[in-house]
Amino acid sequence: MFRKKYTNNLKHIIEAKQFSNRKLLKEIFNRADYMKEKDKKGKLPQSLKGKRIASFFYEESTRTRFSFEVAALALGGKIVSTEKASQFSSVAKGETLKDTIRTLNCYVHAIIMRHNIEGSAKIAAQYSRIPIINAGDGKGEHPTQALLDIYTIKKEIGRIDNFSIAIIGDLKYGRTVHSLIYLLESRKRVKIYLVSPKVLKIPEEHINSLIASGTYFEETENLGEVLDKVDVLYVTRVQKERFDNQKEYEKIKDLYKVDKETMKKIKENTIIMHPLPRVTEIDPRVDTDPRSAYFRQAKNGLYIRMALLDMILR
Ligand code: NCD
Repeated sequence: MFRKKYTNNLKHIIEAKQFSNRKLLKEIFNRADYMKEKDKKGKLPQSLKGKRIASFFYEESTRTRFSFEVAALALGGKIVSTEKASQFSSVAKGETLKDTIRTLNCYVHAIIMRHNIEGSAKIAAQYSRIPIINAGDGKGEHPTQALLDIYTIKKEIGRIDNFSIAIIGDLKYGRTVHSLIYLLESRKRVKIYLVSPKVLKIPEEHINSLIASGTYFEETENLGEVLDKVDVLYVTRVQKERFDNQKEYEKIKDLYKVDKETMKKIKENTIIMHPLPRVTEIDPRVDTDPRSAYFRQAKNGLYIRMALLDMILR
Protein backbone atom coordinates (compact mmCIF):
# COMPACT_ATOMS: atom_id res chain seq x y z
CA MET A 1 0.00 0.00 0.00
CA PHE A 2 1.09 3.54 -0.81
CA ARG A 3 2.11 4.82 2.64
CA LYS A 4 4.30 7.75 1.79
CA LYS A 5 4.72 10.30 4.57
CA TYR A 6 3.27 13.70 3.85
CA THR A 7 5.49 16.76 4.06
CA ASN A 8 3.01 18.89 5.97
CA ASN A 9 1.34 17.97 9.16
CA LEU A 10 -2.15 19.12 8.39
CA LYS A 11 -4.44 19.12 11.35
CA HIS A 12 -7.39 21.44 11.00
CA ILE A 13 -8.59 22.63 7.59
CA ILE A 14 -9.91 26.13 8.14
CA GLU A 15 -8.88 28.38 5.26
CA ALA A 16 -7.58 28.17 1.71
CA LYS A 17 -4.33 29.95 2.46
CA GLN A 18 -3.20 26.80 4.29
CA PHE A 19 -2.73 25.34 0.81
CA SER A 20 -0.52 28.03 -0.67
CA ASN A 21 2.40 25.64 -0.36
CA ARG A 22 3.00 24.21 -3.83
CA LYS A 23 4.44 20.97 -2.57
CA LEU A 24 1.48 20.32 -0.30
CA LEU A 25 -0.95 21.01 -3.12
CA LYS A 26 0.90 18.59 -5.37
CA GLU A 27 0.73 15.91 -2.71
CA ILE A 28 -3.02 16.37 -2.35
CA PHE A 29 -3.45 16.12 -6.13
CA ASN A 30 -1.31 12.98 -6.31
CA ARG A 31 -3.25 11.43 -3.49
CA ALA A 32 -6.56 12.31 -5.16
CA ASP A 33 -5.34 10.75 -8.43
CA TYR A 34 -4.36 7.65 -6.52
CA MET A 35 -7.78 7.42 -4.86
CA LYS A 36 -9.53 7.80 -8.20
CA GLU A 37 -7.50 5.02 -9.74
CA LYS A 38 -7.99 2.70 -6.76
CA ASP A 39 -11.71 3.44 -6.71
CA LYS A 40 -12.03 2.38 -10.34
CA LYS A 41 -10.47 -0.97 -9.45
CA GLY A 42 -12.58 -1.31 -6.31
CA LYS A 43 -9.41 -1.34 -4.23
CA LEU A 44 -9.48 1.79 -2.10
CA PRO A 45 -7.10 1.74 0.88
CA GLN A 46 -8.91 1.24 4.17
CA SER A 47 -6.81 3.91 5.84
CA LEU A 48 -9.68 5.25 7.98
CA LYS A 49 -10.45 1.91 9.58
CA GLY A 50 -11.37 2.43 13.24
CA LYS A 51 -11.93 6.17 12.75
CA ARG A 52 -15.22 7.82 13.66
CA ILE A 53 -16.09 11.11 12.06
CA ALA A 54 -18.83 13.59 12.91
CA SER A 55 -20.42 15.38 10.01
CA PHE A 56 -22.00 18.37 11.69
CA PHE A 57 -23.92 20.64 9.33
CA TYR A 58 -25.78 23.75 10.43
CA GLU A 59 -26.64 24.55 6.80
CA GLU A 60 -27.98 22.62 3.81
CA SER A 61 -25.61 20.67 1.65
CA THR A 62 -25.66 18.03 -1.06
CA ARG A 63 -22.22 17.71 -2.62
CA THR A 64 -20.03 18.66 0.31
CA ARG A 65 -21.77 16.47 2.86
CA PHE A 66 -22.31 13.46 0.63
CA SER A 67 -18.85 13.51 -0.90
CA PHE A 68 -17.22 13.81 2.53
CA GLU A 69 -19.38 11.08 4.02
CA VAL A 70 -18.98 8.74 1.07
CA ALA A 71 -15.22 9.42 1.06
CA ALA A 72 -14.97 8.51 4.75
CA LEU A 73 -17.07 5.37 4.38
CA ALA A 74 -15.22 4.22 1.28
CA LEU A 75 -11.90 4.45 3.14
CA GLY A 76 -13.27 2.30 5.95
CA GLY A 77 -14.22 5.07 8.40
CA LYS A 78 -17.54 5.51 10.20
CA ILE A 79 -19.72 8.59 9.99
CA VAL A 80 -22.16 10.09 12.47
CA SER A 81 -24.17 12.83 10.85
CA THR A 82 -26.48 15.75 11.64
CA GLU A 83 -27.77 17.54 8.62
CA LYS A 84 -29.51 20.35 10.45
CA ALA A 85 -27.45 20.82 13.56
CA SER A 86 -29.24 23.98 14.59
CA GLN A 87 -32.49 22.01 14.82
CA PHE A 88 -31.54 18.43 15.60
CA SER A 89 -28.74 18.84 18.13
CA SER A 90 -28.55 20.57 21.51
CA VAL A 91 -27.71 23.74 19.62
CA ALA A 92 -31.52 24.11 19.44
CA LYS A 93 -31.54 24.22 23.27
CA GLY A 94 -29.04 27.03 23.27
CA GLU A 95 -25.79 25.10 23.60
CA THR A 96 -22.73 27.08 22.55
CA LEU A 97 -20.43 26.07 19.71
CA LYS A 98 -17.64 25.69 22.25
CA ASP A 99 -19.56 23.12 24.32
CA THR A 100 -20.77 21.31 21.22
CA ILE A 101 -17.22 20.93 19.94
CA ARG A 102 -15.92 19.81 23.35
CA THR A 103 -18.64 17.17 23.50
CA LEU A 104 -18.01 15.83 20.01
CA ASN A 105 -14.34 15.61 20.97
CA CYS A 106 -15.36 12.92 23.47
CA TYR A 107 -16.84 10.67 20.79
CA VAL A 108 -15.13 11.00 17.41
CA HIS A 109 -11.73 11.45 15.75
CA ALA A 110 -12.59 14.38 13.47
CA ILE A 111 -15.37 16.88 12.83
CA ILE A 112 -16.52 18.06 9.42
CA MET A 113 -18.47 21.21 10.11
CA ARG A 114 -20.59 23.59 8.07
CA HIS A 115 -21.80 26.66 9.91
CA ASN A 116 -23.82 29.72 9.03
CA ILE A 117 -21.50 32.16 10.79
CA GLU A 118 -18.23 33.34 9.28
CA GLY A 119 -15.22 32.51 11.44
CA SER A 120 -16.93 29.66 13.30
CA ALA A 121 -14.57 26.95 12.01
CA LYS A 122 -11.64 28.90 13.39
CA ILE A 123 -13.34 29.24 16.76
CA ALA A 124 -14.24 25.52 16.77
CA ALA A 125 -10.59 24.64 16.13
CA GLN A 126 -9.57 26.60 19.22
CA TYR A 127 -11.61 24.24 21.38
CA SER A 128 -10.81 21.02 19.58
CA ARG A 129 -8.06 18.46 20.12
CA ILE A 130 -9.30 16.59 17.06
CA PRO A 131 -9.22 17.93 13.48
CA ILE A 132 -11.91 20.40 12.43
CA ILE A 133 -12.63 20.52 8.71
CA ASN A 134 -14.36 23.66 7.54
CA ALA A 135 -17.09 22.63 5.09
CA GLY A 136 -18.19 26.25 4.70
CA ASP A 137 -18.55 28.99 7.32
CA GLY A 138 -21.26 31.45 6.35
CA LYS A 139 -20.01 33.92 3.79
CA GLY A 140 -16.46 33.24 4.92
CA GLU A 141 -14.61 30.37 3.28
CA HIS A 142 -14.98 26.90 1.81
CA PRO A 143 -11.39 25.65 1.55
CA THR A 144 -12.03 22.07 0.45
CA GLN A 145 -14.17 23.39 -2.41
CA ALA A 146 -11.26 25.59 -3.51
CA LEU A 147 -9.03 22.51 -3.54
CA LEU A 148 -11.41 20.54 -5.72
CA ASP A 149 -11.87 23.59 -7.94
CA ILE A 150 -8.17 24.01 -8.56
CA TYR A 151 -7.75 20.25 -8.98
CA THR A 152 -10.48 20.41 -11.64
CA ILE A 153 -8.69 23.25 -13.42
CA LYS A 154 -5.53 21.13 -13.48
CA LYS A 155 -7.40 18.14 -14.88
CA GLU A 156 -9.34 20.13 -17.45
CA ILE A 157 -6.84 22.63 -18.84
CA GLY A 158 -3.62 20.92 -17.80
CA ARG A 159 -2.12 23.69 -15.65
CA ILE A 160 -2.79 25.85 -12.60
CA ASP A 161 -0.24 28.54 -13.35
CA ASN A 162 -0.34 30.83 -16.33
CA PHE A 163 -4.06 30.86 -17.09
CA SER A 164 -6.96 33.26 -16.92
CA ILE A 165 -10.25 32.90 -15.10
CA ALA A 166 -13.46 34.90 -14.89
CA ILE A 167 -15.26 34.54 -11.57
CA ILE A 168 -18.88 35.50 -12.04
CA GLY A 169 -21.86 36.29 -9.86
CA ASP A 170 -21.96 36.64 -6.11
CA LEU A 171 -18.45 37.66 -5.16
CA LYS A 172 -19.63 39.27 -1.95
CA TYR A 173 -21.31 36.34 -0.19
CA GLY A 174 -19.88 33.41 -2.18
CA ARG A 175 -17.52 31.56 0.14
CA THR A 176 -16.31 29.28 -2.65
CA VAL A 177 -15.19 32.42 -4.48
CA HIS A 178 -13.37 33.72 -1.43
CA SER A 179 -11.41 30.52 -0.91
CA LEU A 180 -10.67 30.07 -4.61
CA ILE A 181 -9.25 33.59 -4.88
CA TYR A 182 -7.02 33.06 -1.84
CA LEU A 183 -5.70 29.87 -3.42
CA LEU A 184 -5.16 31.48 -6.83
CA GLU A 185 -3.04 34.17 -5.20
CA SER A 186 -0.37 31.58 -4.55
CA ARG A 187 -0.11 30.60 -8.24
CA LYS A 188 2.02 32.22 -10.92
CA ARG A 189 0.79 34.43 -13.77
CA VAL A 190 -2.91 33.96 -13.11
CA LYS A 191 -5.25 36.62 -14.48
CA ILE A 192 -8.49 37.01 -12.59
CA TYR A 193 -11.54 38.84 -13.97
CA LEU A 194 -14.06 39.53 -11.23
CA VAL A 195 -17.51 39.88 -12.81
CA SER A 196 -20.37 41.08 -10.61
CA PRO A 197 -22.84 43.90 -10.11
CA LYS A 198 -21.60 46.57 -7.71
CA VAL A 199 -23.76 45.29 -4.85
CA LEU A 200 -22.12 41.86 -5.05
CA LYS A 201 -18.59 43.12 -5.46
CA ILE A 202 -15.69 41.27 -3.87
CA PRO A 203 -15.08 42.46 -0.27
CA GLU A 204 -12.29 44.93 0.37
CA GLU A 205 -10.09 42.47 2.28
CA HIS A 206 -9.83 40.38 -0.89
CA ILE A 207 -8.85 43.37 -2.97
CA ASN A 208 -6.11 44.08 -0.44
CA SER A 209 -4.95 40.48 -0.44
CA LEU A 210 -4.91 40.33 -4.26
CA ILE A 211 -2.82 43.48 -4.40
CA ALA A 212 -0.44 42.28 -1.68
CA SER A 213 0.10 39.00 -3.53
CA GLY A 214 0.79 40.79 -6.81
CA THR A 215 -1.98 38.91 -8.62
CA TYR A 216 -3.35 40.46 -11.82
CA PHE A 217 -7.05 41.21 -11.50
CA GLU A 218 -9.76 43.33 -13.06
CA GLU A 219 -13.25 44.09 -11.82
CA THR A 220 -16.12 44.50 -14.26
CA GLU A 221 -19.89 44.30 -14.42
CA ASN A 222 -19.86 43.23 -18.04
CA LEU A 223 -19.55 39.50 -18.64
CA GLY A 224 -19.56 39.98 -22.41
CA GLU A 225 -16.25 41.79 -22.40
CA VAL A 226 -14.30 38.92 -20.79
CA LEU A 227 -15.86 35.91 -22.48
CA ASP A 228 -13.25 35.41 -25.18
CA LYS A 229 -10.34 36.24 -22.87
CA VAL A 230 -10.44 33.41 -20.36
CA ASP A 231 -9.60 29.73 -20.00
CA VAL A 232 -12.06 29.20 -17.16
CA LEU A 233 -15.52 30.63 -16.55
CA TYR A 234 -16.31 30.08 -12.86
CA VAL A 235 -20.01 30.76 -12.42
CA THR A 236 -21.70 31.13 -9.03
CA ARG A 237 -25.19 31.30 -7.60
CA VAL A 238 -26.43 34.52 -6.02
CA GLN A 239 -26.55 33.51 -2.33
CA LYS A 240 -30.20 34.18 -1.64
CA GLU A 241 -29.98 33.07 2.00
CA ARG A 242 -27.47 35.80 2.85
CA PHE A 243 -29.68 38.70 1.77
CA ASP A 244 -31.54 40.71 4.42
CA ASN A 245 -33.64 42.28 1.71
CA GLN A 246 -35.25 39.74 -0.66
CA LYS A 247 -36.25 42.53 -3.09
CA GLU A 248 -32.59 43.30 -3.52
CA TYR A 249 -32.01 39.62 -4.34
CA GLU A 250 -34.81 39.53 -6.91
CA LYS A 251 -33.30 42.52 -8.69
CA ILE A 252 -29.95 40.87 -9.34
CA LYS A 253 -30.54 37.14 -9.29
CA ASP A 254 -30.78 36.76 -13.06
CA LEU A 255 -28.12 39.21 -14.10
CA TYR A 256 -25.74 36.70 -15.64
CA LYS A 257 -26.61 33.63 -17.58
CA VAL A 258 -24.48 31.11 -19.38
CA ASP A 259 -26.46 29.70 -22.30
CA LYS A 260 -25.95 28.49 -25.86
CA GLU A 261 -25.17 32.05 -26.99
CA THR A 262 -22.44 32.31 -24.36
CA MET A 263 -20.94 29.03 -25.51
CA LYS A 264 -20.56 30.48 -29.00
CA LYS A 265 -18.59 33.41 -27.66
CA ILE A 266 -16.08 31.60 -25.44
CA LYS A 267 -12.93 29.97 -26.80
CA GLU A 268 -13.02 26.43 -28.09
CA ASN A 269 -11.24 25.13 -24.99
CA THR A 270 -12.65 27.39 -22.28
CA ILE A 271 -14.28 25.39 -19.52
CA ILE A 272 -17.38 26.25 -17.51
CA MET A 273 -17.20 25.55 -13.79
CA HIS A 274 -19.74 26.01 -10.99
CA PRO A 275 -19.51 24.84 -7.38
CA LEU A 276 -23.24 23.98 -7.65
CA PRO A 277 -26.10 24.14 -6.82
CA ARG A 278 -27.06 26.22 -9.84
CA VAL A 279 -30.37 28.00 -10.06
CA THR A 280 -30.80 29.93 -13.30
CA GLU A 281 -27.23 31.04 -14.00
CA ILE A 282 -26.39 28.10 -16.27
CA ASP A 283 -28.94 26.92 -18.81
CA PRO A 284 -29.19 23.10 -18.54
CA ARG A 285 -29.11 23.00 -22.34
CA VAL A 286 -25.35 23.60 -22.22
CA ASP A 287 -24.75 20.58 -19.95
CA THR A 288 -23.95 18.34 -22.89
CA ASP A 289 -21.30 20.70 -24.24
CA PRO A 290 -17.93 19.03 -23.50
CA ARG A 291 -16.68 22.33 -22.09
CA SER A 292 -19.24 22.20 -19.27
CA ALA A 293 -17.11 20.79 -16.48
CA TYR A 294 -19.30 21.27 -13.40
CA PHE A 295 -20.39 17.69 -12.87
CA ARG A 296 -16.85 16.44 -13.41
CA GLN A 297 -15.88 19.08 -10.86
CA ALA A 298 -18.41 17.67 -8.36
CA LYS A 299 -17.00 14.20 -8.90
CA ASN A 300 -13.45 15.41 -8.31
CA GLY A 301 -14.67 16.56 -4.90
CA LEU A 302 -15.03 12.98 -3.81
CA TYR A 303 -11.37 12.19 -4.52
CA ILE A 304 -10.04 15.42 -3.09
CA ARG A 305 -11.98 14.73 0.11
CA MET A 306 -10.69 11.16 0.25
CA ALA A 307 -7.17 12.55 -0.09
CA LEU A 308 -7.74 15.09 2.67
CA LEU A 309 -9.31 12.64 5.12
CA ASP A 310 -6.49 10.22 4.43
CA MET A 311 -3.86 12.90 5.08
CA ILE A 312 -5.48 14.05 8.28
CA LEU A 313 -6.63 10.81 9.83
CA ARG A 314 -4.45 8.02 8.59
C1 NCD B 1 -21.50 26.05 -2.32
C2 NCD B 1 -21.59 26.44 -0.87
O1 NCD B 1 -22.25 25.78 -0.06
O2 NCD B 1 -20.92 27.40 -0.54
N1 NCD B 1 -21.91 24.76 -2.56
C3 NCD B 1 -20.99 23.74 -2.44
O3 NCD B 1 -20.49 23.48 -1.38
N2 NCD B 1 -20.63 23.10 -3.55
C4 NCD B 1 -22.06 27.05 -3.26
C5 NCD B 1 -23.46 27.54 -3.11
O4 NCD B 1 -24.20 27.16 -2.19
O5 NCD B 1 -23.86 28.35 -3.94
